[in-house]
Amino acid sequence: MQSFNNLRVNPVRFEDDFNVLAEFGATPDGGVNRPALSAAHLAACDWLLARAEAAGLEPRRDAAGNHSARLECGPPGAPTLLLGSHLDSVPNGGRFDGALGVLAALETLRVVRENDFRLPVNLEVIEFTDEEGTLVGLLGSSALAGKLKPDDLARPRSGRAALLEGLARAGLDEAGLLNAARPPNQLAGYLELHIEQGPRLLRAQAQIGIVSMIVGIASHRLTYFGRADHAGSTPMLERQDAAQGACAFTLALRELVIEHFPQCVANVGMLSLEPGAFNIVPECARLALELRSADTAELQRLEVSALELARREAVRFGLNLEVEAAGVHQPAPLSPLAQQVIGEAAGSLGLSAISLPSGAGHDAQSLADSCPAGMIFVPSQGGASHSPRELTLWQDCLNGANVLLQAALRLAVAVTGEGQLAGMEI
Ligand code: GLV
Ligand code: MN
Ligand code: MN
Repeated sequence: MQSFNNLRVNPVRFEDDFNVLAEFGATPDGGVNRPALSAAHLAACDWLLARAEAAGLEPRRDAAGNHSARLECGPPGAPTLLLGSHLDSVPNGGRFDGALGVLAALETLRVVRENDFRLPVNLEVIEFTDEEGTLVGLLGSSALAGKLKPDDLARPRSGRAALLEGLARAGLDEAGLLNAARPPNQLAGYLELHIEQGPRLLRAQAQIGIVSMIVGIASHRLTYFGRADHAGSTPMLERQDAAQGACAFTLALRELVIEHFPQCVANVGMLSLEPGAFNIVPECARLALELRSADTAELQRLEVSALELARREAVRFGLNLEVEAAGVHQPAPLSPLAQQVIGEAAGSLGLSAISLPSGAGHDAQSLADSCPAGMIFVPSQGGASHSPRELTLWQDCLNGANVLLQAALRLAVAVTGEGQLAGMEI
C-alpha cells in the first residue's frame, strides 16, 4: 500500500513555473506590476490555464473572473476542495504575494493526478480575481462565497471608472459578478499557501505559520476642500489649505492608533493635492484611508475615532470634509480543523510551526463562513512585502508547497469523515 506521507511536489517544475510567472508584469527592480484585470494579470491567468490544461486538468473561468482548473479525483457529485490564492499584485509589488500559493496548488493537483489517487473530494486550483483591492478587494472570492453586494461594486476602492474599465477588458459584467456564488455544500474546504509578509516567523525561527485568523479591514476615501489662493501673496493665517488638514490628520492618526488602539493599524496610502502647482494653495486633498483590526467591535470604534479626528482637523484648518466608505471586510477566524491538519502536515514533514494571526487580508476570509478554510504561511525575508524587496527563500517555498499538499490530503479525509484514502495510508 502506498503511503501518501511520502508525496512531495516536483521542485524543479514548481520553480520553473514560478520563474516564468514572475515575467508577467515584471518590473526592472525584480518585482511585478500586475494590478487586477490589467493586461499583465489577464495574461498571467491565461498562462496558468494553459499550464493546468497541459497537466491534464480542466481549466475554467467563472462569471467573477476567477480562473481555476479541476481534477475530478472524487466520487461523482463529491464536493470540491479549493486550493489557491491570487495572481494580481499591488502596484509595483513582489513576485511571491499570491503567485506562490497558486503554483503550489497547481503542483498539488499535478501530484495527485500523476499518482492516480482517488480522494473523497474533487480538487480545484483557483486564482481569485482582485484579491489586492486595486479595484474592490477580495472581489472574486467574495463573489464565489455569495458575499458580494451591489454596494461593493457601486463604491469600489478604485472608483467606478477603473472598475468598469477592468471588467470590460476582462469581458466581465456586474450582473455576472453578483451571480457567481457557488453553493456552500459544493465546497469541501479551502486551503491557501502564502508568504507571511511580516517578521514573526523569522523572529520565532519557525518554518511554517498556521494562521489562526485574518484581520478585518475598513477603507474610506476622505476629501478635504479648502480654497485655492496665490501661494506668495496670501498670508499664512488667511489660507484654507487642504494639504494642511490632510497632513495634520495623517500625523494625528498615527498618535491616535499608537495611544488608544495599540492592537490596530492605520494607513494613509494615497494623498493627492489639487489643482497641484508650486504656487497654488491646495484647494483639495484626497486621501485613501485603511484601518485594520483583529476584532470587529474594535474596528468599528477605530473607524468612529479616526473619522472624528478627520473632522476635527477639518474644522481647525477651516476646511470642509467629505467621507466616502470604500468597503469593509470583517475579521475572520480560520477553521480549527484546517489548522489541525496543517499542523499535522508540518509535523509529518519535520518542519517547525507556530500559530499566528494574519495582519494582511486574504481570500480565505471570504470563504471562512462557507467551508473549512485554512492558511499556511512561510517566512518573508526581512518581513518585506507589497514591495519588490519581497523575498522568500526557495527552500521555504518548497516546504510550504509540501505542507499544502499534505494538508490538502488530510483535509480531504477529515471533512468527509473517511478514515482512509483509497489505496493509501495516512
Ligand atoms: C492584501 O495583501 C492586503 O492585506 O492588503
Ligand atoms: Mn496576497
Ligand atoms: Mn498582497
